[in-house]
Formats: sequence, C-alpha cells, structure tokens
Amino acid sequence: MFITFEGGEGAGKSSQVELLGESIKAQGYDVELLHEPGGTPLGEMVYSWISDPDSRVLKRLYSRWSQSTTAINLDSLAELFLFESARAQLVNQVIKPALERGHIVICDRFSDSTLAYQGYGRGLEIDQVKKINDIATDGLIPNLTILLDVPPEIGLQRTRGKNHRMENEGLLFHEKVRQGYHQLSSQEPKRFFILDGTKDKQYIQSKIWERVSKELG
Ligand code: TMP
Repeated sequence: MFITFEGGEGAGKSSQVELLGESIKAQGYDVELLHEPGGTPLGEMVYSWISDPDSRVLKRLYSRWSQSTTAINLDSLAELFLFESARAQLVNQVIKPALERGHIVICDRFSDSTLAYQGYGRGLEIDQVKKINDIATDGLIPNLTILLDVPPEIGLQRTRGKNHRMENEGLLFHEKVRQGYHQLSSQEPKRFFILDGTKDKQYIQSKIWERVSKELG
C-alpha cells in the first residue's frame, strides 16, 4: 500500500506522517516513511537547494556568474525537472523495491505536489506536468492521498522563519496552490481524503487512522 500526504506550507503533514507510521507499525506492518524531495542523496540535494537559499555551495556557484543566491531566478520548467529527477530516483530505488517487499510506504508529498506547485502555482500546463509526472513515477499512483487543507495565511504563519524558496512566494501563489489541490481532489474523490488541517492534531490523527485502518482491512 502506498499512501501520500499533501498540502500547502504549514499544513502539519510531517507530524501526521510520523503518527500514522507509528500506528501502522503497531499493527505489525513494515513501514517506510519518506519525504519528497528526499530519501536519496539526489533528493536531499534538491531539498537543500530549496530549503537553504543561503547555502554556501550555492553562493560559491552563483558568485561565478556574479549573482547573489537571492537573485536566483530559476526557470519554472527547470524547477519542475529538479523535482521530477529526484522523484524518478526515489521511485525506482526506494519506493518500488519497498512495495515489492510488501512494506507500506508513506510519502510526505508526491506527484500531486508538482501539479499543485509547478502546475497550478507556477502556471505550467497541467497536462504537460501530468505527462512528466507519469514518466518520472513510471505510472505509480498512490492508493490513498491525505490532503491537509489549511488557508495559506495560517499555514505560512506556522512556518515563519523557515525561509525556503516556496515560503518566500507571495500569498497569491499559495492561494493558487491551494485551489490546485482542491481541483485535483475533486477530480479523484476516491483517492483523496481531505481533512481540515486547522483542526486539533489528535482529531486529525484519529480521522486519518479511521480511514487507513479501513483500507488495511
Ligand atoms: P516541505 O515538504 O518541507 O514543505 O518542503 C518542500 C517544498 O518543496 C514545499 O514548499 C513544496 C515544494 N515542492 C514543489 O514545489 N514541488 C514538488 O514536486 C515537491 C515534491 C515539493
């Protein structure tokens, strides 16, 4: 079984991923907890690029072109391929082998993040992003996607100070991301399970467990 978590900034995914992992483990299943981009050296490299605009490595690289890292203006398509290359590595080297071993895989973000952020957020063509997602994942689709829905003004307040690339985007960008998630979930209501991420952490945990334990049978 392959479960993904999705949502905007500060939606509370990471703690729910941990809690769900513990509940599933307690039932005697083997569980793999992953985060995108990440889970492989390439993925971690992409993540550090996103999460650390003050990185010394980046500063050194950009000084060669006399640009500051804050002035980096990454092309949206180049950004898309960074996420997709990290994903191809993770799917082929980690997720598929784990699923083949019969493990339950829980991934904090997956291809829906790219549709929401690079597609709806950055404005890349949705059908094109879907095709590229499909290539990178080799057609792998989550059995269940838990979407934690939080208004961006609340989510961004929760993550204040993290200062990564996406958090420095304006409110309008994050509104588009949120609307994108709503569109995606309405297109696939069976796969998506939407929860109000402003609700109490334990309440959310219990709703997620209710749904997942039903799927586990
Ligand atoms: P987070 O999961 O810790 O919030 O950080 C990941 C950031 O990367 C988040 O701002 C969303 C962004 N992201 C994309 O823009 N596209 C993607 O495909 C993925 C996986 C993440």
